[in-house]
Amino acid sequence: MTLPPAASVHQSPVTFYNRWQAVNDWLARHEPLWRPIPFMEPAPSWCRDYPELASWLEALDDRDCEYWQENLAEFSQQAAHFVPGLADYSELIAVPVLAAPESSHAAALAEVDAVDMPGRKREQAGAFAASIRPLAEPILDWCCGKGHLARTLAGQGASSVLGFEWNPELVVDGNRLAQHYGDPVTLRQQDVMAEGLAWPGQVHGVALHACGDLHRQLIRCGSEEQAPRLSFSPCCYHLTEHENYPLMSEHARCHAGALSIDRNGLRLAVQETVTAPARVREQTRQVSVWRLGFDALQRELRGVDCYLPVPSHPARLNTGDFRTFCAWAADKKRLALPLIIDWQHWLAEGERRFRQVRRHELLRHLFRRPLELWLVFDYAVFLEERGYRVRLGTFCDRSLTPRNLLLDAVRVSA
Ligand SMILES: C[S@@+](CC[C@H](N)C(=O)[O-])C[C@H]1O[C@@H](n2cnc3c(N)ncnc32)[C@H](O)[C@@H]1O
Repeated sequence: MTLPPAASVHQSPVTFYNRWQAVNDWLARHEPLWRPIPFMEPAPSWCRDYPELASWLEALDDRDCEYWQENLAEFSQQAAHFVPGLADYSELIAVPVLAAPESSHAAALAEVDAVDMPGRKREQAGAFAASIRPLAEPILDWCCGKGHLARTLAGQGASSVLGFEWNPELVVDGNRLAQHYGDPVTLRQQDVMAEGLAWPGQVHGVALHACGDLHRQLIRCGSEEQAPRLSFSPCCYHLTEHENYPLMSEHARCHAGALSIDRNGLRLAVQETVTAPARVREQTRQVSVWRLGFDALQRELRGVDCYLPVPSHPARLNTGDFRTFCAWAADKKRLALPLIIDWQHWLAEGERRFRQVRRHELLRHLFRRPLELWLVFDYAVFLEERGYRVRLGTFCDRSLTPRNLLLDAVRVSA
């Protein structure tokens, strides 16, 4: 497969469409591998179509599984022995690094000036600032929280920063901090989704981790207002009012084989393996085993081989046992349990399914970054269609935040 080179600053318009199309068509070709949700589907159709892939995956030990979760590019090369198209994974997701770690550290607020700021946020804001320097216009920080990014950018040469934030407590807190440190930052309480929002003139719109529709609103509003520059790192793509995700760019919308993805499908783009403390991980594992054991049991009792969603359970059940969990779940689903049940059998079935789910999820996670890029390349094309030159890359390492993509769009034409 030959892809156009990774994008850099000042390209001719609509360069990202080829990238979007390549990802779209690759995702479409491999749809049966990522559409089914492993927790809900014990026998997805790909297990029949690629039996050798299924056997290989299910035979992996836990250590391999964990290693490959963290090294998906390597995993794609192994999986490509069974599905050759997976070999294109690394090339499809390649994007440039926008800021060197040293310049990111240098751009972060000094710890003494960031007492209210979680360490990771301080570093993320520094990396974001380093990726978009130099700053020419006054800045509008979209969904600014307490203004951590706003204050960081003020320290990197921004003449002034206005922040829009919905939560009044964060606005008060943020203004207090800016005043205390003497930063040229003002936060204003503002719902950015409000109709008739007044865009404050020729500002450079920025957003660090504004969720779903919030960052899409920045793209729409900012480009309509012909903002000179828009720089943002998107997150939580699935937080949208739309049941089916509407593509933004004309080019993507007119593409004959454009994927249709619903809100649940979008969740894959942000699905991460949990890196919680061991005790929490073990509890999560146990409850997942119980849920999968109950799922197998309910399929048998109802004579319907279909997943039955069970609502979230009260915390007290976490310290109970499988039998108590099933009694609670059956009651919630109005399912009568027979007096005699082979609990050991169904618990073992839950364990077997849990092992299988982890391995099927490993395969599905191979499609996480491509799906994220499917969304973000579409944003880039949308902005190019509106006269922006777009730079897209990572602003920090994945270990600092997995939502590490940044789009930087500079207006070049009317
Ligand atoms: C994930 S946080 C990011 C905050 C900040 N950019 C940062 O990185 O620290 C998203 C922020 O968006 C704010 N928010 C949510 N909905 C909003 C809306 N409709 N208008 C303005 N702000 C909103 C939330 O209160 C929250 O502070």
